[in-house]
Amino acid sequence: EKGTYPYYMLKEIDEQPATMRRIISEYTDETGTVVIENELLESLLGSDRIYIVACGTSNNAGWASKQIVERLANIPVEIHLSSEFGYNMPLLSEKPFFIYLTQSGETADSRQVLVKTNELGYPSLTVTNVPGSTLSREASYTMLLHAGPEIAVASTKAYTAQIAALTVLAKAVGEAKAIAAANEFDLTKELGIAANAMDAMIAEKALIEEIAAEYLATTRNAFYIGRAEDYYVSMEVALKLKEISYIQAEGFAAGELKHGTIALIEEGTPVIGIITEAMTAPHTRGNLREVESRGAHTLVIASEELSKDGDQITLPSVHQFLRPLVSVIPGQLIAYYATLLRGYDVDKPRNLAKSVTVE
Ligand code: F6R
Repeated sequence: EKGTYPYYMLKEIDEQPATMRRIISEYTDETGTVVIENELLESLLGSDRIYIVACGTSNNAGWASKQIVERLANIPVEIHLSSEFGYNMPLLSEKPFFIYLTQSGETADSRQVLVKTNELGYPSLTVTNVPGSTLSREASYTMLLHAGPEIAVASTKAYTAQIAALTVLAKAVGEAKAIAAANEFDLTKELGIAANAMDAMIAEKALIEEIAAEYLATTRNAFYIGRAEDYYVSMEVALKLKEISYIQAEGFAAGELKHGTIALIEEGTPVIGIITEAMTAPHTRGNLREVESRGAHTLVIASEELSKDGDQITLPSVHQFLRPLVSVIPGQLIAYYATLLRGYDVDKPRNLAKSVTVE
């Protein structure tokens, strides 16, 4: 039930920090050690490459988790769209391991790939919010998100829960392989800090509502830009914005804008920069200046340690692997408030269903 909330989406955004804490308690023992099913761990230890297969927001969660898994588990990770992979399978490594990310566990595009990889005899894990769902039953292993039912069509808490679940998985694998980055990464502590930072960000609703009104009340299109993780989060928050507010939104690699898409920038076009990484910060800021000089209405979402005077939204600092958990929240809230303001049903956008069971 949504209780006192006007929409499920807002309730589900608010539930994200609690979901992080639940994932910590579900996947650690009393000594704080990360625990996953032993056979799943063994299977991953025997694999030379992870293929993450997913659609929509779950695919974006795969991208946001790629670096975490590669660094902690020291296994190369490829991210694929289910609807492409099925008919356009890349050359696989010798010992592939498939991870299906699916909130509902019922997505037909993802299931058709699972059926195929089962036929080929490859091991698989479904990371899902729904126990007993089709993809959970048909994969070799399941990890549950423990996020509670997600009702709003626009997925929010499943995105952050998927990143947290893959972090758990990578930490367990990396520790078993004695990878230094995994041994040094204190998952319980860092995920706890991230949950608190998410709470702090969610507490900025009034500010974000004002920003949505200033930037998105009447615009026809909008861009989110960033680099690396900030680009992956840009793709997700652009999807959030377009699917519920119907603003044509694009998540773009900041450096790629000038290779064509910058032609779309007009007087007043909103361009929102996400900046959480010191190495790329000056470059993304440079790209924001380029679009500003062509009339863009720019907005900056930056980590506190990289924040500058004039930036509109400041993200509390968290461990570098967990930045997407926090940097996605302003974009989720921007989509929510922009939609309210433009007068649409936040929870039930046109043309969309919560679970897409046809290919
Ligand atoms: C976006 C959204 C969709 C789903 C996609 C995959 O907010 O909800 O893009 O993420 O249809 O669904 P699952 O994760 O259930 O496989």
